[in-house]
Amino acid sequence: MKKRFYITTPIYYPSAKLHIGHAYCTTLTDVFARSKRERGYECYFLTGADEHGLKIQKNAEAAGVTPQAFVDNIVEGFYKLWDLLKITNDDFIRTTQDRHIKVVQDAFTKMLNQGDIYLGKYEGWYCKYCEAFWTDTQVGKEHICPDCGRPVEKAEEEAYFFKTNKYLDSLLKFYDNNPKFLIPESRKNEMINTFIKPGLEDLCVSRTSFSWGIPVRENPKHVVYVWLDALTNYISALGYGSDKEDLYKKFWEDEDTEIIHILGADITRFHAIYWPMFLEALGVRKPDREFVHGLLMMRDSKMSKSKGNVVDPYPLVEKYGVDAVRYYLTREVNFGSDGSFSPEQFVERINADLANSYGNLLNRTIGMMSKYFGGKIPEYKGQVSEFDGSLEAVINTTISNYENAMDDLRITEAITYVNELVNRANKYIDETMPWVLAKDPEQVDKLASVMNHLAYAIYVASRLYHPVLVTASDKAFEQLGLTQEEAKYENISNKKLLDNHQVNKGEPLFPRLDATIEVPFISELMGGSK
Ligand code: MSP
Repeated sequence: MKKRFYITTPIYYPSAKLHIGHAYCTTLTDVFARSKRERGYECYFLTGADEHGLKIQKNAEAAGVTPQAFVDNIVEGFYKLWDLLKITNDDFIRTTQDRHIKVVQDAFTKMLNQGDIYLGKYEGWYCKYCEAFWTDTQVGKEHICPDCGRPVEKAEEEAYFFKTNKYLDSLLKFYDNNPKFLIPESRKNEMINTFIKPGLEDLCVSRTSFSWGIPVRENPKHVVYVWLDALTNYISALGYGSDKEDLYKKFWEDEDTEIIHILGADITRFHAIYWPMFLEALGVRKPDREFVHGLLMMRDSKMSKSKGNVVDPYPLVEKYGVDAVRYYLTREVNFGSDGSFSPEQFVERINADLANSYGNLLNRTIGMMSKYFGGKIPEYKGQVSEFDGSLEAVINTTISNYENAMDDLRITEAITYVNELVNRANKYIDETMPWVLAKDPEQVDKLASVMNHLAYAIYVASRLYHPVLVTASDKAFEQLGLTQEEAKYENISNKKLLDNHQVNKGEPLFPRLDATIEVPFISELMGGSK
């Protein structure tokens, strides 16, 4: 495994506020970044905003402000949301920043000079009223403008194009030599069958019909069209092509860094086909992995700002806490598959997994520790009760299963291993029956061992949950009497870690939610669409 990671989310459009689908992508990326850092790897995590384009220009006009003022305002909301969700990104790139604009213009010039980009004509469906070009799919069979509903007509404009076919063979070779590049693997076939086999068209990389974009230096009536601008963020943020390339050298150029892009299925084509081509044209290394996650639907229909059926993450986090929301997103929707957001499932997950299983395990254990040992965790003396060995075995396999799953970005699966450990520890209480052992003075060694094993199992579960349950796990460490230093991941296999620590009784980590109150409340947040 490589020793260092560079991990990115897509950069989001600040055309409107972000919804829970965006929070899903960023949260899962954050879980991965945190888990790597906790295990001692260096990890640089980038997110940002994709601020150019016609849509933003139009929204700004409608709001009566400049496009820059418009995006500044919305991006403020991005910062707040990532703060609220405790996202640990190292940088936030905005495509309107000088550091980005220069890199895009330089890249365009290089490609133009190399003959990768040429001037041609873009043909599309044009809406005179909206002054916008649309594609065949956007206008549908009726040839109607998707924005204003008026009829559109075929029109042409002068535009620059990127010669995709020049890099196609090399891309296919790259796919063959790097079978782990695109995950899940099915995405590669989708790219080949849907886009490459039918004949890949050259990509339009400039427009003259709107002005909110990065001007083409050589021909300033053109602005760089959005994907060449947007994708370049992954290297411009590291200082590529600037006089301060330290981060770029370390997190992109150095082969010891694993470069991972996380993205939603809707933008696979741009990341899996054009981005490697652009990088090849620039003579720059390609990413190691692109992980394509599914989309979060709302009651079977795609969540989208234009449909107005989005879930706003703010009130959810404010009411249920950051851990509950992060947990739901990580656990409920298998990372890589589509999923849907449902208030019933939200409440059920929090109650079943966090309140009843994990929270209750901690509560019961701390209570018994106080009752039987004055709150002092007895020392580890090996496997004393007949159930200790099997609990230890589960702990060991949980750690290795979790690590392997996380490394492969099977994040949901990694968390289910921790849930299984928690369930196993609860069962261990039923098996060992500490309340029975406590009645017999001759069983005190067994009782001590049970208490030590339980404390250790909770520590391990809390450590592994930590990238998701960023505040509750710390509270669990506190209740077990561990300092942050002691609770570190490097101690995860130390069975004597908990010896003689004094536990602290605390509030339950996750109070049970009353479904009859919470389900209607969350449904209301979803626009009442139950
Ligand atoms: N700006 C481009 C990305 C450029 S990356 C160089 C863009 N922005 S976006 O704001 O429309 O969406 C960005 C990403 O948000 C999607 O690819 C996807 O990862 C995520 N999601 C948006 N809606 C989502 C869901 N409903 N569910 C899950 N993820 C979603 O595309």
